[in-house]
Amino acid sequence: MFDFDLKASRKSAIIILDFGSQYSELIARRVREAEVFSVVMSHRTSADELRGLSPKGIILSGGPNSVYANGALMCDKSIWDLDVPVLGVCYGMQLMVHQLGGCVQAATGKAEYGKAPLEIDDSTSLLKNVVNGSTMWMSHGDSVKQLPEGFVCLAHTENTPEAAIASYSRNLYGVQFHPEVIHSTCGIEIIRNFLYEICGCQPDWTPNAFIDEATAQVREKVGNKKVLLALSGGVDSSTLAFLLNHAIGDQLTCMFIDQGFMRKGEPEFLMEFFDQKFHINVEYINARERFVKKLRGIIDPEEKRKIIGTEFIRVFEEESARLGPFDYLAQGTLYPDVIESACTTLDPKKGDRVAVKIKSHHNVGGLPKDLQFKLVEPLRNLFKDEVRKVGRTLGLPEEIVRRHPFPGPGLAIRILGEVTNYKLNCLRDADFIVRDVIRKDGLYDSVWQAFAVLLPVSSVGVMGDQRTYDWPIVVRCVSSEDGMTADWSRLPYETLEKISNRIVNEVEGVNRVVLDITSKPPGTIEWE
Ligand code: XMP
Repeated sequence: MFDFDLKASRKSAIIILDFGSQYSELIARRVREAEVFSVVMSHRTSADELRGLSPKGIILSGGPNSVYANGALMCDKSIWDLDVPVLGVCYGMQLMVHQLGGCVQAATGKAEYGKAPLEIDDSTSLLKNVVNGSTMWMSHGDSVKQLPEGFVCLAHTENTPEAAIASYSRNLYGVQFHPEVIHSTCGIEIIRNFLYEICGCQPDWTPNAFIDEATAQVREKVGNKKVLLALSGGVDSSTLAFLLNHAIGDQLTCMFIDQGFMRKGEPEFLMEFFDQKFHINVEYINARERFVKKLRGIIDPEEKRKIIGTEFIRVFEEESARLGPFDYLAQGTLYPDVIESACTTLDPKKGDRVAVKIKSHHNVGGLPKDLQFKLVEPLRNLFKDEVRKVGRTLGLPEEIVRRHPFPGPGLAIRILGEVTNYKLNCLRDADFIVRDVIRKDGLYDSVWQAFAVLLPVSSVGVMGDQRTYDWPIVVRCVSSEDGMTADWSRLPYETLEKISNRIVNEVEGVNRVVLDITSKPPGTIEWE
């Protein structure tokens, strides 16, 4: 789960110990936004292991349980004596108090959820420059009743006498609220104070620093060997292509397998852009007919995904053998994939994290483990927004950097039922119109995803004097932070009207446009 050499890189680094909070990853992102590298590790990490990594500070995440719960997650008690500053957040703070001899009061009905103004009692260190009365996001049942010896109270709220605490002599700090969430108005200030005032971090986690370091690591690992990269046109594989081109130039070959399920104009744009403009070596593989043939008569969405995934691997194997041999395969694995493979949701019985699967995702990275390649994964320590920053710094155009997320099996899963070339053409044209109108109306960047779905169910309409019996297009447009939850976007009626008029006028086989107004949950973002 953790393969970053903190010591070798000489970076200021913060380790976040994860106690099962839904916000652990968010804490890591906030720390990195403040230009300090951070990683999430298991709460089980021993004090010796932590010492070996020489972090500048440790943050203990929140968690769903009480410190008194059966099987409550604990940390190695020796971490309090590491002589490294520690900040406990919510459960993390309660654990600190509990393990250091203070008293945590089990929930007595005085739980505090939501926003609360913070009354500051000491604004010298952790709460320096935090505005008195700032709103903080609370979410706790238990609370601190008695501080351990040597601790002082830094702030309170109406219902929580000890909302922020510190032991200055031991460099230990705690907050009962969540500074990492967006609703906490001065939360970032508190995190910055911990990083810079308390831990003495340097702001050295920047795109340029990452590029220099990743370039050196890739060069050292790969030497003069050849590397293959399956390019999808998404921001991850495109950034990876730019990074590797920067690091190893001609030793890189990109392979772009056109399954026939991409959006209008994308394959052409990709080839023109990478190959002709940036002289990155891209092999275009036209596999359109192969894929659509395989999907003949297939209706079940999971079966479609599996067939596409399997066919992708076949084409990949054939073509890499033809173009190769290659020693290394580059993959655009990101940090959330790394965290997710180790932890996703808390299993209350085992007190550990387990993954939940709703649907099987397919990405160009979704290749089998037994391929005869060694892997190069230079993005595996980055969050998605960091990949965008790195991509931009390397000169990736905004069309790719700001591209909406797009599923690996592409338009094939946005056609309900059997996929045919005729349906693909209808959907591709309608989908282009949705985004074209949204872009022209200046709304593209304010939504997470906007696309069309084809429902192959005929209904009667009238066009001119002709009766029609055609399909509807569903317009799906959502706002989201991370794709895990989403709300439908309230597009202006004028925009919707333009989308509807253009689709029924310009797309053959479509006589109706409907709008999906379902949030996630209970809906998913994609229809399939
Ligand atoms: P759902 O439909 O599960 O989608 O709400 C959540 C987000 O994931 C994207 N998605 C995929 N991304 N490969 C991907 O890389 C896939 O197979 C895939 N399926 C869904 C979806 O577009 C949305 O942003």
